[in-house]
Amino acid sequence: MVLNRRDALEARLRREYGLSLDRGGARRSIDRFLESRAKELSLDDPGVVLDRLVEGDPDEIDRLLRAVTVPHSWFHRDPDQWRLVEAWMRERGVGRTLDVWVPACATGEDAYTVALLALRTRVPVRVLATDIHGGALATAERAIYGTWAARELPADLKARLVERDDGRLEVPEDVRGQVSFARHNLMDVPPPSANGAGWDLILCRNVLFYFPQPTAADVVTRLAGSLSKQGRLMLGASDMLHATPPGCRALRVGERLVIERDDTHRKAPAKREPPPTPKPVPRRAAPRPTPPAPPRPVESDGLDSVERFVRGVGALSTGDLEGALTHLRAALFLRPGLWPAAVYLGITHERAGQRAEAERYFARAASSGAPSDELAGLPEDLRAYGHELAALARSKSRRRTA
Ligand SMILES: C[S@@+](CC[C@H](N)C(=O)[O-])C[C@H]1O[C@@H](n2cnc3c(N)ncnc32)[C@H](O)[C@@H]1O
Repeated sequence: MVLNRRDALEARLRREYGLSLDRGGARRSIDRFLESRAKELSLDDPGVVLDRLVEGDPDEIDRLLRAVTVPHSWFHRDPDQWRLVEAWMRERGVGRTLDVWVPACATGEDAYTVALLALRTRVPVRVLATDIHGGALATAERAIYGTWAARELPADLKARLVERDDGRLEVPEDVRGQVSFARHNLMDVPPPSANGAGWDLILCRNVLFYFPQPTAADVVTRLAGSLSKQGRLMLGASDMLHATPPGCRALRVGERLVIERDDTHRKAPAKREPPPTPKPVPRRAAPRPTPPAPPRPVESDGLDSVERFVRGVGALSTGDLEGALTHLRAALFLRPGLWPAAVYLGITHERAGQRAEAERYFARAASSGAPSDELAGLPEDLRAYGHELAALARSKSRRRTA
């Protein structure tokens, strides 16, 4: 079968990175990437960029991956799950060093959270954190974050981060020293643990939704196969387990799913349950009606509101506050009902120390009633944060009016 160049690119992304292009907005992200990259390089024909991608140019592929996967994370994300990790560390880390692998680590916050908990619990750990995205790994290695990335970090752990003159937080050497970063594709064989006996813990969160179901199942099987005898695999709240991997059992511990090798002998076995389906995103009981959005203005630079929004979030995650403000303001201008852009504008202004501006945007998002249909068209992982963003806008604006 002869593939055209676009099909060939999609086949490469599917084959080499497992990416499902049928999920919401993925193909549009590729289109937008081709056009914006051509413009950036002053090329008349986006097909030239497409050719480079089809040939497998690693720099261009890296840029494209950023556009289609949005590497985004924060410290101590999902505190309930971290409570389980900490309890497990205290139980399993007596007299031994734990080998922990954090695949799909994005900008590194999960990996450093493990290391911070290791200091709190005095359990020695060796953390390997991996991702396919070179830019995200570079940010992870720089280990400097905005205060927003530490919003869910408990005070004693946050106090270990060093506040810099520019207000940002730097991960100190005693934390960094426990973590190493490497490029790894989840389609490949898992990396070996340092002790050669398998990983004691694999924390693979919020990535499986990028993959079609059979690919996600293969990934989970590979991860589970690289666990140590009593090792644990933990997935993210948004990741669906379609089948328990062979030789393993899926347990509910607290409110979270844990996959263990079946030869594990636990003192108090947790209740065995079928793989859970993800919880629906909670909706507000009585969303306030929103006025119809005004007609969309003509977009002079060819970027639409979603592209602007994604670029704004990306700029914020790399600390480019100016870029974030430019893109997010444009997103909101182009689509006034896009309340997540208002939330991220609030976050950006807060990071810039502009509290009044920040509060104005949080209030704007909260007063919109945060309708979920405004999330349509956003990349899937950003949509998955919808309820967190809405809750944040509400709490910030409540704090203001309290
Ligand atoms: C939404 S982030 C998750 C970050 C973090 N685990 C968390 O839960 O906050 C998803 C990450 O998966 C990475 N990713 C996507 N496909 C991948 C693959 N085939 N192999 C490794 N990483 C991949 C992306 O580069 C991105 O950084």
